[in-house]
Amino acid sequence: MTVQTDLHGTAGSHGGPYRSRVTLLTGATSWTLHALPERMLRPIVVSDGPIGVRGVDEDTRPSAQLPSPTALAATWDPALIARLGTLIAGEARRKRVDVVLSPVVNLQRTPYGGRHFEAFSEDPLLTGTIAAEFIRAVQERGVAVCVKHFLGNESETERTSYLAKIGERALREVYLAPFEKAVREAGVWSVMAAYNGIDDGYEASPATEHSRLLNDVLKGEWGFDGVVISDWLATSSTVESALGGLDLVMPGPGGPWAEGLEKAVEEGLVPESLLDDKVDRIVRLGARVGAVPGTPVTVDAVQRNLPVMQSTRELLRETVARSMVVLGNNGLLPLPVSTVGTVALIGPNALDPFVQGGGSAFVTAPYLASAQQALQDVLPYAVVKADRGTSAYAHARPIDPSLVTTPDGEPGYSLTFVDEHDVPVGEERIVPASESWNREAPLGAIRARIRAVVTLDQPGDHRIGVGVSGAHTIRFDGEVASTSTTWADHDVILDSSANHPNGPAAVLSSDGGRRVTIESNQQVVDAGAYGRFVRFLLRHDLPGLPPDEEIERAVAVAAAADTAIVVVGTNEETESEGWDRRDLQLPGRQNELVERVIAANPRTVVVVNAGAPVILPWLESAAAVLWWWLPGQEAGNGLADALLGVTEPSGRLPWTLPAAEADVPVKETTPVDGVLDYTEGIDIGYRGWERLDRTPAREFGFGLGYGTWQYDGIELHGGPDDLVVQVALTNTGSRQAREVVQVYLEAPDSPVERPVRWLAGFAAAELAAGESATLRVPVGRRALETWNVAQHRWEIPEGRYVFRAGRSSRDLRLSATASLKDAG
Ligand code: BGC
Repeated sequence: MTVQTDLHGTAGSHGGPYRSRVTLLTGATSWTLHALPERMLRPIVVSDGPIGVRGVDEDTRPSAQLPSPTALAATWDPALIARLGTLIAGEARRKRVDVVLSPVVNLQRTPYGGRHFEAFSEDPLLTGTIAAEFIRAVQERGVAVCVKHFLGNESETERTSYLAKIGERALREVYLAPFEKAVREAGVWSVMAAYNGIDDGYEASPATEHSRLLNDVLKGEWGFDGVVISDWLATSSTVESALGGLDLVMPGPGGPWAEGLEKAVEEGLVPESLLDDKVDRIVRLGARVGAVPGTPVTVDAVQRNLPVMQSTRELLRETVARSMVVLGNNGLLPLPVSTVGTVALIGPNALDPFVQGGGSAFVTAPYLASAQQALQDVLPYAVVKADRGTSAYAHARPIDPSLVTTPDGEPGYSLTFVDEHDVPVGEERIVPASESWNREAPLGAIRARIRAVVTLDQPGDHRIGVGVSGAHTIRFDGEVASTSTTWADHDVILDSSANHPNGPAAVLSSDGGRRVTIESNQQVVDAGAYGRFVRFLLRHDLPGLPPDEEIERAVAVAAAADTAIVVVGTNEETESEGWDRRDLQLPGRQNELVERVIAANPRTVVVVNAGAPVILPWLESAAAVLWWWLPGQEAGNGLADALLGVTEPSGRLPWTLPAAEADVPVKETTPVDGVLDYTEGIDIGYRGWERLDRTPAREFGFGLGYGTWQYDGIELHGGPDDLVVQVALTNTGSRQAREVVQVYLEAPDSPVERPVRWLAGFAAAELAAGESATLRVPVGRRALETWNVAQHRWEIPEGRYVFRAGRSSRDLRLSATASLKDAG
């Protein structure tokens, strides 16, 4: 799109000649930019993110809630991703959002990474292919995406400061690869610069000022003409970041550019031409999303009820079912639709599914399709009996607000802001007890006093917990339960405690009428552009059965049922932005629950509700095992369809499932002296497992689906620039099924060390029982190439290449060999 460049900033009405242009380069609020009237640009609006479009500020309208990104990649289906991209574009338009802060194309370098669920895959080709399709579909409708986090943001520990040390080959072949596809193939309109720093062997600097990566590679070599946006609060310099390639500091108001950029331009430290380049980029983005008059964009009619429309429900339901991966099946699945008798639905995640990971990707769904209701709907003649079996949470759950009153008996809790002399500066307010995040502390307020009375209306032992951020003193019935003098600032936004603040907890026994008074005297957190706020989260677990008895009861329900479905998994205490995982174990006593149910009922299906790998010690002894991901609003319906085979769970693992933690090639997420060294180089994910010759529980690309397949033949056509692998296959099963044909490359005699095996292409076939087809799997030139570190260029080392086609990275059925020579 052509953008006028002859209207460069004339003097704003206030300030010097650079003022209005400089002002544009820092957000006006957390989610909006400034207008630039002299370029006729209205404020551009941005919003997270990868699970759906949240909307900005006080927009509390629900958003369509997609399965988490790894689930989308597990479909290996670019056409489905494009349909989801269209939905996201529609959601953005409905919420008046111009730029969606998504997708994440960082790679799943280690299963311990906290944001693993938000990334697509451990493979750069799969990640890039899925991302490119998503970007095209969203941007085609005049909504921008912001691909993130450029670069090296593969883990969360010390996330705002660590330096990812990545060698040149790994940088090019692995970590830059999905971004390169996003820019060169999909023409992405904005890129987010990460919190961390990168040491690429030539320059060690924060991602927001990494000139070699931003200026030389992204904008220079790849010709990126969009906007480089900082991750939220990531920018720590003025001149370095302005020179280093950053275009926009978010969020605002305030921050280093708002304070220092005008002066830096006046003093000649940042050239005016560079200022203009940044302004042009933002205006160009505005033109692309329709924020400048006379720049027509394709906008479908805004559908106000999009998240609940039938077509949305069906698309999400289909995605949930199709993304699910069959990890084991002795024939129990699919369950016959004629299933009668009793179905036992057991497990903590059966009743309380984990539908989205924690952190900035969070959206409020319009509804949640529960597993129990969905099963009952598809099995009308069966009795579906649900039993939690055990808790998977370390902390109590958010309290039922109806149990909370102020000391005066009003529903909610009272909140008074006080100044440094302990004098109230804010009216005493009554806040709904479900509200845990109170922004808008009045000026001068440095502390808050909170009072709540909780009624323990059932006899027995209640677990009560309080979550706060920063310095506090908390009292239960006048007794100090916790005190801290550690003052918190905007770092709490970036830290785990901001998502789930934890504090004191107590077990209190009640005769059914006990009332507990909880008082908290706590600091106001000043988080800059994120506002001034207090966090106060009340948690509560009702009295329940002792844990042993609860398991016993569930096992008895399972034993008496015709079929048992056990749903286990992680939860928001495990998988979130802001921290990495400590281990890969299912929390609580879930393994014990599964083992005992399997022993009690041989007709047991285990469903794993998690985004990232967890160790499944019982995997080989269960009759059937399905991976459900973090499935979003259509969770239960998609699960029911997959269990019954209404829709085939045709997902394939986009990462490696370890059998034991000790086997995982890359475990470390904690930087050493601030440095996270990517010593495994190009051997990310399954490539590392192959290099070390370790056998996982289920390998990359694995997924049984409900089909059986015969691979009939393989042929290679074309040369390095137009290579196609043709694979003939037959559905030898008794039902229509979908197969993802995966083509891997090996270069056994290569003069340069290559991975043992790497994904080079894939394509899918949906065939009726007995049907045969020949699939074309294109292999792009980049899949053949390696980065020559001495000459800083791509090349295809001359020699013999083995193309292996099959069902997964280890189940390879056919191979063909070609001698390739780089003509270029
Ligand atoms: C996250 C980004 C997100 C941004 C805005 C940051 O903390 O790293 O992924 O887009 O917040 O919410």
